[in-house]
Amino acid sequence: MQKSEEYIAYGIGNYYQAVKQEVSSIIEFNYICDKKFDNVSDTEYDGIQIIHRSQLKDKINATIVIFSCDEPLKQTLAKEFSKNGMKYVFAMDLLGCTTVTGLEIKKNGVKGYWHYGTNEVFYHDTLPDNLQISFQGAHSSVYIGENLIIDECRLLLGNRAKVKIGNNVRIVIAECHVAYSSLNIGDDCLFGKYVVIRTHDSHHIFDKDTGKRINQAKNVNVSNQVWLCAQCKLLPGADIGVGSVVAANAVTSSKFPNNVIIAGVPAKVIRENIVWSRDDTRFCDYQMFSECSSKDAEKYIV
Ligand SMILES: CC(C)(COP(=O)(O)OP(=O)(O)OC[C@H]1O[C@@H](n2cnc3c(N)ncnc32)[C@H](O)[C@@H]1OP(=O)(O)O)[C@@H](O)C(=O)NCCC(=O)NCCS
Repeated sequence: MQKSEEYIAYGIGNYYQAVKQEVSSIIEFNYICDKKFDNVSDTEYDGIQIIHRSQLKDKINATIVIFSCDEPLKQTLAKEFSKNGMKYVFAMDLLGCTTVTGLEIKKNGVKGYWHYGTNEVFYHDTLPDNLQISFQGAHSSVYIGENLIIDECRLLLGNRAKVKIGNNVRIVIAECHVAYSSLNIGDDCLFGKYVVIRTHDSHHIFDKDTGKRINQAKNVNVSNQVWLCAQCKLLPGADIGVGSVVAANAVTSSKFPNNVIIAGVPAKVIRENIVWSRDDTRFCDYQMFSECSSKDAEKYIV
């Protein structure tokens, strides 16, 4: 964005309330404007000087930051401002809110680095074309290691999400929701169909007596060589040990040791001291680990 003399925040609704803190960490507003200030005599809102809509035309060198995530409204406002010769930018673009695919990231990135607004991706050139990253907030970063192979994978990132996916990870279908916390996925992991990982719950829950939040965002860790079976769900705080298996349909927010199988809702350890191999049970029926051709587990045996 070109440097502007002055910035005007425009559109004081839910979206403004949701993102004002992140936008204010990038730029300082000189004025604030909204239809709802047309007939009020207040001089300030949120500590920013109110400017009436009729006065906007006097601020021809200022940049208007449009606070809306409603596409038709954004376009209507943009049209109006450009008709009057005013500069504008969408708050969403300042923050870097966008949905991108691996293909677009590789097309527009430079030397394994892509960024938009405050969001960024560090990637290896094996980044899969069909990875989908939805940056819905600000200040998020994603690191994708070598040889990620996916059928479908969507990363849905709010504010201040940190995602790291290690090397040689195979994902059939997964959706990961991350905000104000980190998701770490180690090397050599395997995810089955419809795996869901969340580091936050999307909505707030409070203790009725104290008014204190009880469902904080928490980091999720999937250690090296973990197999997440079909339809399992890892919730805020889940931490799966190296070489472990999360059974189909399991749900957990807990920490588990290395080389165990966990199953159920809430998940419990059902077996200890296991190793697993990617070798496909449709085509091979080995009875000994030594017979397997995929022996990633060996790297992690201590
Ligand atoms: C993880 C898994 C492989 C475990 O297999 P296993 O070690 O052979 O487990 P067992 O069948 O011996 O079951 C041991 C106990 O755990 C229970 N259990 C096993 N899997 C369970 C599951 N997914 N949910 C709840 N309980 C489960 C069994 O009922 C049994 O309980 P019991 O002793 O009270 O009878 C298997 O549960 C699983 O999830 N398979 C699906 C794999 C998948 O999703 N593949 C798709 C491609 S990635």
